[in-house]
Amino acid sequence: MRKHKIAAIGGDGIGPEVISAGLDVLDACAKRDGGFALEVTHFDWGSDYYKKHGVMMPDGGADKLRSFDAIYFGAVGAPDIPDHVTLWGLRLAICQPLDQYANVRPTRILPGITSPLRHVTGPELDWVIVRENSEGEYAGVGGRVHKGLPEEVATDVAMFTRPGVIRIIRYAFELARSRPRKLLTVVTKSNAQRHGMVMWDDIAAEVAREFPDVTWDKMLVDAMTMRMTLRPQTLDTIVATNLHADILSDLAAALAGSLGIAPTANLNPERKTPSMFEPIHGSAFDITGKGIANPVGSFWTAVMMLEHLGENAAAARLMKAVERVTADPSLHTPDLGGNATTKQVTEAVMRAVEAEN
Ligand code: NAI
Ligand code: MG
Repeated sequence: MRKHKIAAIGGDGIGPEVISAGLDVLDACAKRDGGFALEVTHFDWGSDYYKKHGVMMPDGGADKLRSFDAIYFGAVGAPDIPDHVTLWGLRLAICQPLDQYANVRPTRILPGITSPLRHVTGPELDWVIVRENSEGEYAGVGGRVHKGLPEEVATDVAMFTRPGVIRIIRYAFELARSRPRKLLTVVTKSNAQRHGMVMWDDIAAEVAREFPDVTWDKMLVDAMTMRMTLRPQTLDTIVATNLHADILSDLAAALAGSLGIAPTANLNPERKTPSMFEPIHGSAFDITGKGIANPVGSFWTAVMMLEHLGENAAAARLMKAVERVTADPSLHTPDLGGNATTKQVTEAVMRAVEAEN
């Protein structure tokens, strides 16, 4: 029996609701498969922990995660704590020391889901966005001087290192090569930002020489929003900086039907440290505790985690089960225009996993 050690961090808001649903579904996957078991350890880190202890997670928290095979993460953010405190105190405090430098976000329109794009029925939109996850605009470099005084100054410096850019662009080319269309779009803003972004363009051209079988092009991020909306079928794999891809992937999630569906993986591709898997959405205070959070994002996230753990048969089975359930409008949560509950969707997916070949 293969055993995988999972660290579960539900976090804040609907995070614990969708992670608990995801763990139930993962349990059904393991039982159905029969070849592996998940050993889950729960961590109660997040905003409630902060209110008790003044920190989002204990000192050395990220190091406690090193012995796990994967991290399954909900969301972080509370209405009464500033977002930069919660984000930097937990999510980034895990991603950065564990060097999860590749953030990977598949986007597809699942069966039964309607895209807000009038001309898109499904197959026209099938992307993977690769986000640089370790530096750039979110490197944390900068400061505030003369705080609160009339002469106050604040800076955020985007840090782009040659090794950091090479590794993410190489990862994106490899991913593009593994997909049928072998098509990569490199997104920058090198007309206005003439240092770091021009280095991205230069490095993309250098790395491209290692991948003669991959077709690639460049886009400015502003024009990219139009191309995603007007010509989604011309895109496949996309790579962009931490900030640009953060924004583009929210747009992608919306175009694919709902933020509640979209998954993401924070990968250390060399597997020197555990990777972290989370739905894209945040803690959604507006619906917390109502039992109506869409768990599909956390299920699709679980598919990515199973793939990373090498459980490809179980991953494929879970994805099929999810698609079977999204195809049925009576199992849509309110964000998709339905009135199903988290529990109903979860139970339906568990049944579909059990029934799947
Ligand atoms: P959000 O993603 O929490 O919510 C945006 C909208 O989408 C809300 O109307 C929400 O109800 C809806 N929504 C999100 N996930 C859903 C789901 N699974 N099912 C149904 N509806 C869903 O983003 P928002 O409101 O900007 O941020 C709320 C908090 O979450 C903030 O503190 C923010 O900093 C944090 N956040 C955390 C993230 C993370 O942990 N990775 C990512 C984004 C935001
Ligand atoms: Mg975001």
